[in-house]
Amino acid sequence: MSLSLFRPLKVGPWSLAHRVVMAPLTRMRATVPGSMPNALNAVYYGQRASQGGLIICEASPVSQQASMGPRIPGIHSAEQIAGWKLITDAIHAKGGIAVLQLWHIGRIAHSSNRAGALPVAPSAIAANASTLSAAGETVPFETPRALETAEVGAVVADFGQAARNAIAAGFDGVEVHGANGYLLEAFLQSRSNTRTDHSGGGIENRARFMLDVTRAVAAAIGAERTGIRLSPYGRANDSGETEPMPLYSYVVGELNTLGLAYLHLIEPRASGAGQREVDHQDVPSAAVLFRPLWQGALIAAGNFKADTAEAMVTAGHADAIAFGRYFISNPDLPARIHANAPFTPYNRATFYSSGPNGYSDYAAMS
Ligand code: FNR
Repeated sequence: MSLSLFRPLKVGPWSLAHRVVMAPLTRMRATVPGSMPNALNAVYYGQRASQGGLIICEASPVSQQASMGPRIPGIHSAEQIAGWKLITDAIHAKGGIAVLQLWHIGRIAHSSNRAGALPVAPSAIAANASTLSAAGETVPFETPRALETAEVGAVVADFGQAARNAIAAGFDGVEVHGANGYLLEAFLQSRSNTRTDHSGGGIENRARFMLDVTRAVAAAIGAERTGIRLSPYGRANDSGETEPMPLYSYVVGELNTLGLAYLHLIEPRASGAGQREVDHQDVPSAAVLFRPLWQGALIAAGNFKADTAEAMVTAGHADAIAFGRYFISNPDLPARIHANAPFTPYNRATFYSSGPNGYSDYAAMS
């Protein structure tokens, strides 16, 4: 069963034994204060690691400014690096490959969760959506502060430093978070970027920040250990470009020249899956559209089941498939797919709660 998903795959310097990847999943279970990864997180990731399996660890803020709030594990302090070491050790002990997703939240944050610090963004344009305040109330997103031109370079440098920190924590590589309406995508898209400096205006200018960040990360740790995640046609967090093809064709073309480990695309049908159950209809397949434009390894994510993942890889639309929600509730997901065993359903109520409930207490197959 599932032959294509269990063919080995070379991604950058890593030899994957199979093509069932764990997608990055924010779980909000860092130790507070300090936003530190901890022993419970190591248990959870260790359960999900497998021999030659690629685990992309949850989005990790590259600075204090980049964070959504205190329960998100960061990668900008010595204590956080030490915390992540527990996780990379647990993944490596099972023979897995550990990648950390590097994140800047941009305008998708609220000052009440950030000790009063206003979110920053390319332009002072609020996302037309709501979020939870520190008091647990549903509130509209605030109008963010536009980053000064001089500050933009500092954020690029933060990503480079965070990539070095990730390697110091034992990660095999990093993934640049360029999806879902956060800072990199906000620079890229015209609805959130009305800047008049060299980071705003036409496609080349709007793509500059994302490409500069990716180059900085690649320069810090090696392009072959750097991946990037994009969500063309996605609508999460009030994102989306009216005409995605010219913009993303340019971006993918430029990324091709960097020699990255992989490109990771979120299928638009699953856009916003972190917030609610979705299966957007009448949207294109990002992997099918961009596979012909991308020369390296391609990971696709979004609403895959065992059979559709197998079909996607067999058809050559993607080299590997990342699973999000089903990796939450099935710690042994690759083995289950291999055995053609049923998936345990996930409990959305515990996605962002605390402690082991709905986190490290999902059982493996008996
Ligand atoms: C997510 N997703 C996500 N994406 C990302 O790039 N970084 C992240 O940290 C998170 N966090 C996150 C948390 C939770 C609880 C969910 C459900 C989702 C999106 C995720 O990686 C994936 O793209 C979607 O879940 C769609 O894939 P599935 O779940 O259909 O396999």
